[in-house]
Amino acid sequence: MKQVDLIASGLTRFSKHSDKTSRDLLLEAFQEAIITVDKGIDVQKDIKALFVGYFTPSLYEHQAHYGPLITEWLGLTGIPVFRTESACASASAALATGYFAVASGMYNLVMVCGVEKMTTLDTAGVTDALSVAADNIFELGTGITFPGLFALMAQEYFRKYGGKWEDLQTVTLKNHYNGSLNLKAQFQAEISTITEKTAIKKNVTFRDEMDFLKSKYNPFVAYPLRLFDCSPISDGAAVVFLANSEISNRFTDRPLHIKGIGLSTDTLTVAGRADLSTSKATLNAASFAYKMAGITPQDIDIAEVHDCFTINEVILSEDLGFFKKGEGLEASKKGRTAIEGDKPINTDGGLKSKGHPVGATGIAMVNEIWEQLRGEAGVRQVKNTPNIGLTCNVGGANASSMVFIFERGGK
Ligand code: COA
Repeated sequence: MKQVDLIASGLTRFSKHSDKTSRDLLLEAFQEAIITVDKGIDVQKDIKALFVGYFTPSLYEHQAHYGPLITEWLGLTGIPVFRTESACASASAALATGYFAVASGMYNLVMVCGVEKMTTLDTAGVTDALSVAADNIFELGTGITFPGLFALMAQEYFRKYGGKWEDLQTVTLKNHYNGSLNLKAQFQAEISTITEKTAIKKNVTFRDEMDFLKSKYNPFVAYPLRLFDCSPISDGAAVVFLANSEISNRFTDRPLHIKGIGLSTDTLTVAGRADLSTSKATLNAASFAYKMAGITPQDIDIAEVHDCFTINEVILSEDLGFFKKGEGLEASKKGRTAIEGDKPINTDGGLKSKGHPVGATGIAMVNEIWEQLRGEAGVRQVKNTPNIGLTCNVGGANASSMVFIFERGGK
């Protein structure tokens, strides 16, 4: 297999973009990616294939056959194009497919991207659109939603390992703080700021942030998870270019090498699993990725971990081997996952605060690793520029899991 390098990365702000379609968002991220190619690129000549993750364009934009649409919109008509779908891991499925295409030697340079335009629907409509990622016959008839499925995981985690909802708020506080440092984040506000604003708007007083988080202004969505335990509904797009490392120096002297990739699945039905406090797909995906990279979890300097709901950051940070099972909450409470901690996680604000346009999320995670490993993350920059970064993007209720390991290359 060929060594595959990341040579460019672009990202839109994640937000409610009422004035933009998914194709506008992809174009914006594409233009930004082009600018990040250190030595320049002739996209029409150099990009040989395109892989795009978009979970449900048919439901959000009444649009299928998305591949030729997007190659046309980006001025790339003629190249082969594939749309991948793996629920919230749709972009990582595109990344894996693009990786296979370059690693196999079939193409020297490909574009991989992800997008989701969710806000064409209201919350009930989005909940319905997202529900198609669960088992239509065995789950949806019960009325369960994704917040509900992750709430079951939180209940099981607390039963098995102790800890309580209050402990989970360290994830909320950290990710909102990180998001406040990120101009691409949907919520660019710390919980302290949101607390103050709510107090003024509602003419009430809060003793502190926890008093706000425990108030009716942070309502239960699915017990024990409240509003601020959930990722929001978002629009956004992200783009990367992958190149065979034999030619990547034509484009940059500072690529990221993809050192490991691990992909796995669990039962689609949550009821089919023996233990809800762990993600078997992530355990497997991580072990494949570490083996391929020839490293251990201790070697990871920084990670982007799929916090669609706060509990999942804790569960996955354990399954990725960063902390022992049952010790993830404590690690979060001790600040170990903060930007200045020994295992920084979700320095961009994570899905919780940066936003979660589901089909874009996997590549947006890679964008943060790209900026951090190249020392370009500005006020979010982790000290002593990290060398090795990991992304873990899951689909649905952890039914598919995709792990990528990147290493800083070049000068
Ligand atoms: N975190 C914090 N604040 C949020 C938020 C979130 N996740 N979602 C919405 N808000 C805020 C909005 O900014 C708005 O604030 P404002 O009144 O100050 O403007 C307020 O809450 C109401 O927003 P609205 O869009 O009406 O919220 P909602 O109640 O309709 O939706 C959720 C909230 C949690 C139900 C929705 O965001 C959701 O379904 N999230 C989960 C998405 C999901 O399942 N993704 C897939 C994961 S597997």
